[in-house]
Parts: sequence; C-alpha cells; structure tokens
Amino acid sequence: MNSRALLTKQSILPFILGFLINTFIFLRFRGNSNNEDISSQVVLLSDAQAGQLVGLKEKLAKHGELLAMMPEAKVKTKTVAEELYEKVRIFCWIMTSPQNHGKARAVKETWAKRCNEYVFVSTEDEPTLPAINASVGEGRDKLWGKTKFGFRYAYKSSLAKYDWFMKADDDTYVIVENLRLLLSNYTPADPVYFGCQFKPFTPQGYMSGGAGYVLSREALRRFVEDGLDKDKCRKDHDGVEDGEAGKCLFDVGVKAMDSRDELGQGRFFPFQPASHMEPGHNNKTWWYPQYLKYPEKDLLDCCSDTAISFHYTSEVNMYALEYLIYHLNPYGVGTSVQT
Ligand SMILES: *[C@@H]1O[C@H](CO)[C@@H](O)[C@H](O)[C@H]1NC(C)=O
Ligand SMILES: *[C@@H]1O[C@H](CO)[C@@H](O)[C@H](O)[C@H]1NC(C)=O
Repeated sequence: MNSRALLTKQSILPFILGFLINTFIFLRFRGNSNNEDISSQVVLLSDAQAGQLVGLKEKLAKHGELLAMMPEAKVKTKTVAEELYEKVRIFCWIMTSPQNHGKARAVKETWAKRCNEYVFVSTEDEPTLPAINASVGEGRDKLWGKTKFGFRYAYKSSLAKYDWFMKADDDTYVIVENLRLLLSNYTPADPVYFGCQFKPFTPQGYMSGGAGYVLSREALRRFVEDGLDKDKCRKDHDGVEDGEAGKCLFDVGVKAMDSRDELGQGRFFPFQPASHMEPGHNNKTWWYPQYLKYPEKDLLDCCSDTAISFHYTSEVNMYALEYLIYHLNPYGVGTSVQT
C-alpha cells in the first residue's frame, strides 16, 4: 500500500494515534519480555523504573527454575570425547590366542569398548568376545600371519566404515580418547601410521608391536591391495610381527609418523608406566634406548599427559589402569570455589 495515500488530511489524526498506541505497546512488550539482555535494559530504564527491573530479574529466575524442572528443557551436551568418537572413527583389532582369552576379556571389559568397533584375532572362534579364528596356526612364529589376517579382516569388513585401524595385543592398554586427539590432526586419506617408533629394519624404522600401532584408511588400503595382494610383503607366516609390518608398510609408501606431544614426550609405550619412569632406564646398555627413534626422559618427564598406550599390562593391571585413569580423582582439583 502507498503510505502517501494514507496521509490525507482526513486520515492524519487516526494515523498519529495509531502510531503512538503501537509504539506504547511495543515498548511495554519489549520491557517485559526481552529476557536476553538485562544489562542493556538497565541503560534504557529510568530511575523510576528501577524497581520494575528487580521484579523482572525475579521473574527470570523463577522462569529459569521452571525450565530446569521440565525434562525436555534439559539439553544433553556432548563431551569433547563423545564428539571426537563420531569424527575420528577407530576400528581396533586385538591379537590374542585361545589360552589368553581371559586377558582378552579384561581388554573387552576395559578399553576396547571405546573403539567404534573391535574384534579379537585368535586361532579359535569365540563369539562372546568376539574372537575369530585367523586359521594360520598358533605360536610366536605365526604372529606375522595373524597380523596379515587381522588387517585383511579389517579391510574386508570395515575399510569404508572407519577412518583408522589399530592393532594392539591382549596385554596392551589403550587410552582411546587420546588416540583420537592425536589422529584428529591428520586425515585418513593420507598414507600414514603411528606408534612407538623404533629405528631398525627400514630407513623410517618400524613401530613396536606391543605398544600397538594405527593405520590410516589409505595406509590399510595400500597394506592389503599393494602389499599383501601383490605379494610385496613376506609371504609366509613367520618373522617378527612388527618388523615385517614395518617393512611392508615402508614398501607400499606408508609414512611412519611422529606421535610425540608439544613437549616432545612420547605417547605409545612398549612397557608399563613404571618401567618408563625408572631413573637410568635410558642408559644405552640394553636394546630399548638404542632402538628408540626419539629418546625418552626419566620419571614424570618420560610420558605425555595424553599418552595412548602401555604394553605388558597383566589381566589385573588392565583393571588397575582403568581405575587410575577413569575412576580415581583427587577431590576438589579443577573445581573452582565461589568467593
Ligand atoms: C581354525 O581354522 C583352521 C583353518 O581353517 C582349522 O584347521 C582349525 O581347526 C580352526 N580352529 C578351531 C579351534 O576352530
Ligand atoms: C641400564 O638400564 C637397564 C634397564 O633399566 C638396567 O637393567 C641396568 O642396570 C642399567 N645399567 C646401568 C649401568 O645403569
């Protein structure tokens, strides 16, 4: 409608009246219902209206209490870990054997459930774990065979479903949230893998098997399609599991990555925490410090605050680590006091 047509002599009085009434209603409405910014209303209100503000604040407080009492108003906020669970999807396969299914059960009851999916690779089917029969025969000399089976199984069942593929042992304890933190900085489309990096066997070394190692989706694709399918990797089941995996991954162009934190402290560990903290454990008289790509410090400086894995965890220590990491809390730390 043309507003000029309204402003004739006959209509000017009703128009002004209408404008005033509307403005009045608008200001009243605003003064009573704008809950969002009380401070800006303090500026708008005159001294005479200050009393009304107190009333308004009381009303808002009551309103808040009512909202809190209504179940549908309780918005479930996700933790950072829950959000990363959806963004950084990890398939875990855990190497075990029939006589170690007790250890496997401890893994299942502690950390494995934090993987998006997991399976145990054994030489016997056990649906309650679940464990699958790698059908390579049992024994230390069959570990490379089991490793090939485990990654091939992950490839066949889950390549498109998940972003990262972790191999661990039934005596490895993994803090899966910290693994997601590390991996969230990388893309699964790159041919990369992470673990505790040792120097031997290839120019980029290899990752300790006991500390566990994790392949990107592209690394897994190359391992199976370019490595195993094209017979580029060791064909029999013998050989040192982690060394053979390291050679195979190097041959198909998968890059061994640095998983240390900003302080240069490691995150994947081939022993229990206490072993890494022992003063002098880095003296060069034994193989470990000689193998390590990145030297380790003593005591509390050994290990990152966002450590990912510890090897040689006994069945009962699975529960001990679970308790120390996820249950035990020093009271009052990180809780602020209202003063
Ligand atoms: C595992 O698979 C192999 C090869 O298929 C088979 O010979 C063996 O009997 C199986 N073991 C068990 C316990 O089912
Ligand atoms: C070096 O470290 C190893 C492993 O912790 C230990 O057994 C050995 O006694 C140490 N040697 C010296 C000279 O400190």
